[in-house]
Amino acid sequence: MGAADAAYHREDDPILSDADYDRLKRANAAIEDRFPDLVRADSPSGRVGAAPAEGFAKVRHPVAMLSLSNVFDDAEVAEFDARVRRFLGIEEAISYTAEPKIDGLSLSLRYENGTLVTAATRGDGEEGENVTANARHIDDIPESLDGAPDVLEVRGEVYMDHADFRALNERQSAAGAKTFANPRNAAAGSLRQLDPNVTAERPLRFFAYAWGEVSEPLADTQGDAIARLAELGFRTNPLTKICDSAEEMIAHYERIGRDRPDLGYDIDGVVYKVNDLALQRRLGYRSNNPRWATAHKFPAEIATTRLEAIEIQVGRTGALSPVARLDPVTVGGVVVSNATLHNADYIAGRDSKGEPIRGGVDIRVGDMVEIYRAGDVIPKVRDVLLDRRPEDAEPFVFPETCPVCDSPVIREPGEAVHRCTGALTCPAQAVEKLKHFVSRSAFDIDGMGAKQVEAFYADGWIRTPADIFALEERYGSGIQQLKNREGWGAKSAANLFAAIAERRRIPLNRLIFGLGIRHVGESTATLLARHYTGWARFRAAMEAAVPDSAERAELIAIDGVGAVMAEAIADFFASETAQDQLDALLAWLEVEDVAAPATEGSAIAGLTVVFTGTLERMTRAEAKARAEALGAKVSGSVSGKTDIVVAGPGAGSKEKKARELGIEVLSEDAWLERIG
Ligand code: IVH
Repeated sequence: MGAADAAYHREDDPILSDADYDRLKRANAAIEDRFPDLVRADSPSGRVGAAPAEGFAKVRHPVAMLSLSNVFDDAEVAEFDARVRRFLGIEEAISYTAEPKIDGLSLSLRYENGTLVTAATRGDGEEGENVTANARHIDDIPESLDGAPDVLEVRGEVYMDHADFRALNERQSAAGAKTFANPRNAAAGSLRQLDPNVTAERPLRFFAYAWGEVSEPLADTQGDAIARLAELGFRTNPLTKICDSAEEMIAHYERIGRDRPDLGYDIDGVVYKVNDLALQRRLGYRSNNPRWATAHKFPAEIATTRLEAIEIQVGRTGALSPVARLDPVTVGGVVVSNATLHNADYIAGRDSKGEPIRGGVDIRVGDMVEIYRAGDVIPKVRDVLLDRRPEDAEPFVFPETCPVCDSPVIREPGEAVHRCTGALTCPAQAVEKLKHFVSRSAFDIDGMGAKQVEAFYADGWIRTPADIFALEERYGSGIQQLKNREGWGAKSAANLFAAIAERRRIPLNRLIFGLGIRHVGESTATLLARHYTGWARFRAAMEAAVPDSAERAELIAIDGVGAVMAEAIADFFASETAQDQLDALLAWLEVEDVAAPATEGSAIAGLTVVFTGTLERMTRAEAKARAEALGAKVSGSVSGKTDIVVAGPGAGSKEKKARELGIEVLSEDAWLERIG
């Protein structure tokens, strides 16, 4: 393993195929899971020194990492300054630093005798995750410092530049891997990697703006302390300015707001800090925020543009989603050319309850609309400028047939969405279903992402899941070959064929989830797999689950399966197209049985458990899987039916409610002891 690792990561000259390497790595990780004591210093899983089987070791912050209070307008900035001076009993003006609030994630770097010893995320403020191995790969973070205090904790923001973010997403997408919604997610995902070698390939940046424990003061003022950090070799933000009044702070806020589109990285406001550190100490803290600082947030950016067209996209389950095609416009540094329009009611100016939105004004092609990106989510239409509506603009008529396959469209009572009834005969649904089939929680086929599925579908190479398994037979040799396709080569083609072959053995729950049946998510698929345990039994029962049958009753009786879901499953299995596709697919597969929950000998069988707060010794997914494997039901909310609440740090209302209801509340440790 060690040799393969070195060859792969350092020499860039692998001695194992990627699939073989991954298999070895997974086997090793499984051993580490069971026997944490055996984790070697050169473990490929990057878990060195980490006691928990999964995730990062915890680091307690000697000085808590706090968050900032917010202000939203000029009056509140003046009020902040007034409050500070009132608290201190100072009438004359005091000075503040004003600097961009970087939209990334905060990191605390501990240097002892000038050497970086720990890098920790903020976590809950008291305790973060040890990401030292990863932070060492960030170029802006010095490994050693000259002339620093013996103990120095430097705090700042890890973030990703816009250009690097776009390039990363392009690489991810080309590799069939998941893309990130925004630079902050990309930065967080890249820093919180169990494998530091992955972090090393991600271009992360770091701005220093604060400090934690220090063995001697850095300076007398905030501004000088930051200058000292710059001298020590940290990047500090060039837009940091000393301001002597609320007016100057607001002026600097406006200047930063003007520069914002050209900065090349995301900021979401301006942070003001009292400059004099002696005054900072006197001001101190109020619950979670320093009294000596605040964040002046930018409003969500809005842009006005023309709505050129309304297009309808068809999703995996046939849902018709209207999308606004816009005259491209820059919002928050990003060019926006589409915005979601949700559904027919939203276009018509009504919410799901039939109440008017936007004053009841509908959205028409040709309208001038206001677009915003709230945070980082997909752009939305905020308003319609009625006075600029073209005279000939017509109300939008929602289609009655599917724009892709022409099948009739229906809207079920109580539902906001219109659906195409074409099911698997609709090409749009077929492509989306194939994307779902290869996705992470389903068949998880490496090297086959949305892009590949679309391209193969467009060329008729794959139409159904079974075609994926036939790819090598059809396109591994002969006239048309995968390795000759644009963007492919002998190695990548062989890798894809190997990844596909590897998935011919598939656990029943993944297969059921992969079928993409409406309402059947990952956890329902697991419930079904546990109940029916094997493919043959499951399929026979589903085909027999016609209304009023014993099989339908058994299906509905499963805890977590309702009548609507049961109907969707039975409908799926009743379709001839689905039957044919299943026959073809199953010819390729060896489906692994799933064990029924071990109800006997388990202390928690049949109990309903809720996890809340931060879990430290396992991930949420892992905690849920383990509890379910022991026969417990895991729920997201606390109710009279809850038996146990497992509360980690930061648990809030759920823990409170549990205590009110007299439900047993356990710490994570006590829980692990309980389940053995
Ligand atoms: S000062 C005690 N300065 O904002 C206050 N924070 O809401 C220490 N942030 O967790 C924070 N840019 O992740 C400070 N220039 C800046 C910042 C900044 C971004 C983040 C930081 C913090 C959050 C507080």
